[in-house]
Amino acid sequence: MLEVNKVYQGDCLELMRSIPDKSIDMVITSPPYNVGMPYGSDDRQYYSDYLNYMKEVLGECYRVLVSGGRIGINLPSTIMQSTKSRPAYLSLDFVLLMREIGFLEREWICWIKMKGGGIPGKSTSWGSWRSPSLPYLRDASEFIIIMDKETHKKVGDKTKIDITAEEFLQFTTNCWYMIPETNRWHPAPFPEELPYRLIKLYTYQEDIILDPFVGWGTTCVVAKKLNRQYIGIDNNPEYCRMATIRLANETNLFKEVNNE
Ligand SMILES: C[S@@+](CC[C@H](N)C(=O)[O-])C[C@H]1O[C@@H](n2cnc3c(N)ncnc32)[C@H](O)[C@@H]1O
Repeated sequence: MLEVNKVYQGDCLELMRSIPDKSIDMVITSPPYNVGMPYGSDDRQYYSDYLNYMKEVLGECYRVLVSGGRIGINLPSTIMQSTKSRPAYLSLDFVLLMREIGFLEREWICWIKMKGGGIPGKSTSWGSWRSPSLPYLRDASEFIIIMDKETHKKVGDKTKIDITAEEFLQFTTNCWYMIPETNRWHPAPFPEELPYRLIKLYTYQEDIILDPFVGWGTTCVVAKKLNRQYIGIDNNPEYCRMATIRLANETNLFKEVNNE
């Protein structure tokens, strides 16, 4: 059985089998997108094999969630698959899988990767420059899909609610303007603000958060700062080592800030 407040190294599908049924309050994750990222494992499978594997992982996520538990999964809109000659609507394919598993649809949040309009940074994949022959759109957004298990309402202890009025007003629109993580120690991290918003909006203090593709630990670090429990899994040993270091250091920093 996996203990809380730890990061585990290994294949998430195998490790999640040792998490009891209905023991997790929220899953927050961003899976590999199957685009050949240098994670040290195979991120370039046939698209159908990739989706089959993800369906099994999502099925395990469903099993371990409590009734009323939520999943918040960060995915791109269209993305060119290395094993396909055309882009895949990855978010749509995941939604269809999640529906088949039995998740209840709740929200489809658009993460706009900038703080207030303008032309996004250094991306240059615009295809046929100034010609209608084959223009490509640059990636300035991703999605965060929220689904629930069995019921939309999550009952909890009211004294364990910690979202402020300002945060509630800001986080309850379905367009989230957040700058991407600039520290590129990991090849594809999300910013701390992403799990921060999800945790504050959808969980109570002391709830248990699981990230089966935890990378260098962002979800767990934020969960710990916000007085939630966590389980992180990644199959890359270096990322797990870094996650454990981040968990030790950033928690201390947070304690210093709060004079604890
Ligand atoms: C998009 S990244 C997640 C990044 C993370 N959100 C962060 O902020 O660091 C996906 C992660 O999934 C991990 N991964 C890929 N296949 C895996 C598997 N079968 N089991 C566990 N982790 C896996 C990769 O090593 C990578 O760190």
